[in-house]
Amino acid sequence: MANEMERAKVSKAVLITGCSSGIGRVTAQHLAAAGWKVYATSRGARGLEDLIAAGCVALDLDVTDEASMKAAVDEVVRREGAVGVLINNAGYSQSGAIEAVPMERVRAQFETNVFGLVRLTQLVLPGMRAQRWGRVVNLSSMGGKLTFPGGGYYHATKHAVEALSDALRFEVRGFGVDVVVVEPGLIRTGFSKAAVGQMGLAPVSPDDPYRAFHEAVARGTVEAYEKGPLARLAGEPVDVARAIEKAITAAKPRARYTVSGSAKLLLSQRALLSDAAWDRFLRGNFPSPGE
Ligand SMILES: NC(=O)c1ccc[n+]([C@@H]2O[C@H](COP(=O)([O-])OP(=O)(O)OC[C@H]3O[C@@H](n4cnc5c(N)ncnc54)[C@H](OP(=O)(O)O)[C@@H]3O)[C@@H](O)[C@H]2O)c1
Repeated sequence: MANEMERAKVSKAVLITGCSSGIGRVTAQHLAAAGWKVYATSRGARGLEDLIAAGCVALDLDVTDEASMKAAVDEVVRREGAVGVLINNAGYSQSGAIEAVPMERVRAQFETNVFGLVRLTQLVLPGMRAQRWGRVVNLSSMGGKLTFPGGGYYHATKHAVEALSDALRFEVRGFGVDVVVVEPGLIRTGFSKAAVGQMGLAPVSPDDPYRAFHEAVARGTVEAYEKGPLARLAGEPVDVARAIEKAITAAKPRARYTVSGSAKLLLSQRALLSDAAWDRFLRGNFPSPGE
């Protein structure tokens, strides 16, 4: 009888990656305040003191480290029976021209934004399937559906997250697991500064044909959040947290939640324009290397 009651208990415990700052941090706070049991994680469990005070349990989780991912999932399973909700949030932009980014940095970008998300999903699914309930929330971006020059590798990871989520949504639905993609536009966090910080790239040749381009990409990455019409349509991390709450609370969540006016505007613009018209729009905003 006791065993049957144990089996009947469905864990809705939330595991979130990348809670040291930005969207992950605010989502952990928001969900804990709304009464969810939240396991907030970061590399080395650093920067989580406020979240512990807000009622979260802090765990070490580096999405590029198999042992730390496994230990974090095992700990939640030990305490709760299963991870009920996985929020794959950790991520960054390895910006720079395709030719200029060294392959080890390209691999590191995919290791964090794609392979970490995939592996963690593999680790939580057995528990979700066993209890026949689960939610996997994947942080993509409007950049999972459109591409800006100088961000090719980041966009490639987010396009991959979109494709993987579409496959997974079909594959696990029958087990009671829903998969949701969240597509933020510009959200005011440390994201743009981290992207610019990743751009200290060696010249591809002595004359550095990408110098002006890289400078423009770095400037544009920061300014997009600060000036102009798109900045006015930027969102706050709590807007993303609210969309995630909606996605994990809804009886039948949507496949995708777009967050912020900037995402809505740019995604509809991209859908309307031909490739040639989109490239013309980009040429008006970025210097073309080699011209
Ligand atoms: N802000 C935006 O405009 C925007 C728009 C669309 C999508 N997004 C997506 O939203 C997610 C969160 O970004 P954010 O805006 O909140 O940026 P952020 O403030 O820079 O936060 C990124 C988080 O990811 C963590 N992280 C990076 N590598 C990690 C790893 N190997 N293991 C575990 N955690 C790692 C960082 O931890 P450390 O402190 O240890 O580096 C940090 O906590 C990302 O997936 C991003 O692509 C952001």
